[in-house]
Amino acid sequence: MFAADGFLWGASTAPHQVEGNNINADWWEIENTPGVPFPHRSGDATDSFNRYREDMRMLAQAGLNAYRFGFEWARIQPEEDMFSRAMLDHYRRMVDTAIDLGLQPVVTLQHFTIPRWFAHEGGWENPRAVERFRRYVEYVTPALEGVEWVCTINEPNMVAMFSVLAKLYDPAATLPEGQNPGSPLPDLRIGEVLADAHRSARDVLRERTDAKVGWTIAQQALEPTPGNDDVFERVHHQWEGFYLSVSRDDDFVGVQSYTSQTVGPDGPIPHPPSEENTITGWAYRPDALGIALRRAWDEAGGVPLLITENGIATADDSRRIAYTTEALRHMKRALADGIDVRGYLHWSLLDNYEWGDYGPTFGLIEVDRQTFVRTPKPSLDWLGGIAKGGFEAL
Ligand code: BGC
Repeated sequence: MFAADGFLWGASTAPHQVEGNNINADWWEIENTPGVPFPHRSGDATDSFNRYREDMRMLAQAGLNAYRFGFEWARIQPEEDMFSRAMLDHYRRMVDTAIDLGLQPVVTLQHFTIPRWFAHEGGWENPRAVERFRRYVEYVTPALEGVEWVCTINEPNMVAMFSVLAKLYDPAATLPEGQNPGSPLPDLRIGEVLADAHRSARDVLRERTDAKVGWTIAQQALEPTPGNDDVFERVHHQWEGFYLSVSRDDDFVGVQSYTSQTVGPDGPIPHPPSEENTITGWAYRPDALGIALRRAWDEAGGVPLLITENGIATADDSRRIAYTTEALRHMKRALADGIDVRGYLHWSLLDNYEWGDYGPTFGLIEVDRQTFVRTPKPSLDWLGGIAKGGFEAL
């Protein structure tokens, strides 16, 4: 039913970035706090809470066979003592819709946002965090029947980094030891909690479903500058090495790669401004995907890899195609070297809410923010063509 060799070709989204009106999530509250330094609030987003069928149909019609989307914890459990059956049914309908359209659903259970009530009690810093997450996962497992790929937590390393960023902005908070405010690193203490939450969720999922279980890691493809190998080793471990090592006991690792950064004596060196940079200010480095795949393969001990995010924020769609062509060539070399890559999911299906800003456009499909009309970009058909056999010729 799916691609002959079973390889997944598709695109990814996350609930808060596309659904709209995710009012019970912590991010909604943050965006709507007066004085917050974000240009935009998520608002209606791309209204995919209502229009997901149209989104998925466009993906399938282009010739792709997989869609990564998320279940939103804040909708499913809007209060600590309230689980919403109707919301769980909604996400089950999304799973069914994907399967009906010939799309393999890849489901993320937590993508950055947490319910407000959980944030108010300290979120991942609350001693009951693991238990809280496990309870949510137990509740959603019936909706995962027939789903082959489940990502428990999206980019735990970014989440552990957000906790440091939040402290930088809070005059009452003390920065965790060893942090450089100019170049903060994920807080390993939070990383440990997330690892426990992930393992606990994995146990539940393995007991109650047939899904392959993993988490997805923001890979930075860090590179040492001369004489700074020791700093690089430490920073790499703190950024992603720790998280990749947790994946050793999983069924797969979700590789997420966009760019690369160098490491100097004080840690990662902010990338200098340049006309070549993408809208998010990141260096144009399609080769980062190759670095990320090889590191994930080595450090997660040879568990299968699924590229759950790779893409570029650009207003020039031909640049998106050029970037992705190059990135896929690096994936091809990794495959040729025997690295077990099971799929490529582009970030993102739609131009969406980039965490505070609608400016960075990562989508294969443009969305009119007033009418919600979707217009596919040439890159959507191009990626469909790659999926339908064009990969060999790349
Ligand atoms: C996240 C996405 C985000 C993307 C581009 C990843 O860090 O999982 O939610 O939009 O990168 O910044």
